[in-house]
Amino acid sequence: MNIENQKQFIEKVNNINAGKNLKYTIFTMGCQLNENDSEKLCGMLEEMNYTKTDNISESDFIIFNTCCVRENAEDKLFGKLGEVKKIKEQKGTIIAICGCMMQEKHIVEKIKKSYPFVDILFGTHTMHKLPEDLYTVICNKTKIQDILDIDGEIIEGLPIKRNDNIKASVTIMNGCNNFCSYCIVPYVRGRERSRNPEDIINEIENLAKEGYKEITLLGQNVNSYKGNGNLGITKFSELLRAVNKIEGIERIRFISPHPKDFSDDVIEAIRDCEKVCKIIHLPLQSGNTEILKKMNRKYTKEQYLELVDKMKAKIPGLALSTDIIVGFPGETDENFEDTLDVVKKVNFEQVYMFIYSRRVGTPGDKMENQVPEPAKHVRFDKLKALVESQIDENNKKYVGTIQKVLVEGKSKTNENMLTGRTDTNKVVNFEGNENLIGNIINLKIISEHMWYLKGEVI
Ligand code: SAH
Ligand code: SF4
Ligand code: F3S
Repeated sequence: MNIENQKQFIEKVNNINAGKNLKYTIFTMGCQLNENDSEKLCGMLEEMNYTKTDNISESDFIIFNTCCVRENAEDKLFGKLGEVKKIKEQKGTIIAICGCMMQEKHIVEKIKKSYPFVDILFGTHTMHKLPEDLYTVICNKTKIQDILDIDGEIIEGLPIKRNDNIKASVTIMNGCNNFCSYCIVPYVRGRERSRNPEDIINEIENLAKEGYKEITLLGQNVNSYKGNGNLGITKFSELLRAVNKIEGIERIRFISPHPKDFSDDVIEAIRDCEKVCKIIHLPLQSGNTEILKKMNRKYTKEQYLELVDKMKAKIPGLALSTDIIVGFPGETDENFEDTLDVVKKVNFEQVYMFIYSRRVGTPGDKMENQVPEPAKHVRFDKLKALVESQIDENNKKYVGTIQKVLVEGKSKTNENMLTGRTDTNKVVNFEGNENLIGNIINLKIISEHMWYLKGEVI
């Protein structure tokens, strides 16, 4: 798709909107990839003469960037749509819905039937066409559905308005080829498409020039990144090494790698690159080999644990975080014990826990032996108690140590405190001068609390 074409529509809408002081609200309901897409949507909207507001009642344009990875993500949208209907009736607000839910046919049908006032529906493969779709709606007063079933091309050069001026996300690939049997993502994001290395490096070099300090590389399976060979980059480990050389960038993170693709060259790159944070998010999903097989994860409990041991041996001080699903179809109490066992053995720094949610169109949805809701909740609570006790223990180890903290800004809960993060992504609150914001400084950790540490400048 030709981006120049969209730039013409940006210009046209910009002219139509000139002098009208129009406002927009964006709701982002998904993962960091969705957040990054939203930053691009905001970039386009700002160039079309809209200014951001969090007050939806004064919005002239409201956009929902949706997620469908679990049912509760979907529910959020339907709750909000009732609310915006009234605003539209009063103000003539244009309403758009985009993102992953729009790639689900049954959802699109439901919206057209039950929420016919929505003006624009567009999917994950047509995100860059917002200017054209908006122009058509404004000029022709029609409704638009712009959703493609085929994989969209990688679009470079979209304007972007970032949420933060210290940390930035950079999407390195779209889509997923793994088809874990519980997961909707491959159906709504299409097959893996990697960005060209020169485009990624160029984007990060520009971010460094703008003063950004921390970069998070994003993809559904970052370690299956494939470069075209430009700048000598064909795979993820080479990309990490190249980003590590960019002057001005001080921290590099990435999410998510897949355990099955965690090759030695990636482990060595993490070890060698001083800017790559020594915490790795390594999604486990289940600790039971039988369930892992049904999930189509392509590793066993033992292989996961061996990989963790190898990583810990090769990378001194390595911390790990993970994602776990409880209550996948067929999971018994004994199966679940294996998950608890892996959590005990690995001692994760952070665990993101999810209750299995049936997703239409995935193999998991058709499996027999769906676990009853109460049993899922019992397991969830058991896992949560274990995880929290481990976090508590881990936090204690920080007290008295000196940590390098990237200062991100004022604490949201206390105006007089600053907040930042350790290399291992722990929040640290401390008293300090605002001119420290944007710097990596040494802090002595003086106390620990469940979700944050307290530090002092030394
Ligand atoms: N590609 C990434 C993340 C995908 S979605 C990865 O593989 O890690 C983020 C997390 O949501 C997944 O890791 C999984 O733990 C969870 N998830 C995905 N589908 C789910 C479902 N149907 N029910 C509950 N949790 C789910
Ligand atoms: Fe979903 Fe699995 Fe792909 Fe992650 S790797 S997005 S869990 S299918
Ligand atoms: Fe959700 Fe789509 Fe991300 S389904 S988790 S927003 S890729």
